[in-house]
Amino acid sequence: MKVLVTGGAGFIGSYVAAAHLRAGHHVVVVDDLSSGREENIPEGATFERIDITSDALDALMDRERFDIVNHHAAHMELRVSVERPLHDAEVNLLGSLRLLEASRRNAVQHVVLASTGGAIYGEQDYYPADESHPVRPMSPYAISKRSMELYADYYRSVHGLSSTVLRYTNVYGPRQNPYGEAGVIAIFLNKWLTGEVPVVNGDGTQTRDYVHAEDVAHANMLAATHRLQGIYNCSTGIETSLNDLIAMLQADLGSVRQLSHGPAKLGELPRSSATAARLQAATGWTPAYALRDGIRQTTAWFVDRLTSNET
Ligand SMILES: NC(=O)c1ccc[n+]([C@@H]2O[C@H](COP(=O)([O-])OP(=O)(O)OC[C@H]3O[C@@H](n4cnc5c(N)ncnc54)[C@H](O)[C@@H]3O)[C@@H](O)[C@H]2O)c1
Repeated sequence: MKVLVTGGAGFIGSYVAAAHLRAGHHVVVVDDLSSGREENIPEGATFERIDITSDALDALMDRERFDIVNHHAAHMELRVSVERPLHDAEVNLLGSLRLLEASRRNAVQHVVLASTGGAIYGEQDYYPADESHPVRPMSPYAISKRSMELYADYYRSVHGLSSTVLRYTNVYGPRQNPYGEAGVIAIFLNKWLTGEVPVVNGDGTQTRDYVHAEDVAHANMLAATHRLQGIYNCSTGIETSLNDLIAMLQADLGSVRQLSHGPAKLGELPRSSATAARLQAATGWTPAYALRDGIRQTTAWFVDRLTSNET
């Protein structure tokens, strides 16, 4: 099985690439290294430094004739998408469309696309959200992701291109980029371990649904093997407040660390969670990581990395 993983030098894509390699697949990683790192790419994968918005992607896909395409390349800074909506649309919308079109042209067997729960559901009517919850994309990033989902529907119904969209909630784990705006676990650990003081926006009661990257990679594998069609949440359905998260991180670091408090961020969701019941019913997927264990493992990874002089 020949698999293309876009964004495979990034956080989640590197877990997905590793899962495909473990399954014995031939894996090609495409990434422009705009936020990813070459060292994240698992051993055994072939690396092509390509921008998904360029003709080089078409050339690669026409030449390699992949069986499975897994799409994780994106710019995922919500605030940057507000400042640079055209750039967001170029990568997240047009890049995804280019990939879908090349998949159709090359008769790819199945495509898995990474989408987002939190940003697409917006302020929820009920908790946890299922896939039929109304969508309220309120940023260029969320609009691009939602448009990508609609294009995937179009390619399925009009061209018969088999595809799964996975809507993640808040993914965490070792290798997460701590310099972005998302990924509070990575951001807080990185700041504490490099002598900075992280900021809690608001009173810390805001909740999120944290799912481990390894569980997300497993969901990607199941989506491809079961040839799931349409949209599936990939989440735990469990809400954890920022205050509770901070308490776990501090317990694992072994000391109370400094925090500063700022005003609540305009537009920040007070709560967010999604149910993966549909994915579980279709594939038997359940998250293997309890948050407590995942945080312990992630903390240990950041401590190890930041105290062994690597950057
Ligand atoms: N991390 C989360 O909590 C989360 C939640 C919901 C959805 N997602 C989605 O999952 C995917 C992966 O997110 P992540 O957290 O691993 O982010 P990441 O930034 O670590 O990975 C994205 C990768 O895409 C690459 N990339 C960006 N633009 C590119 C381009 N034009 N051409 C080629 N490569 C390009 C980057 O270099 C990076 O390696 C994204 O599509 C994101 O929207 C992530």
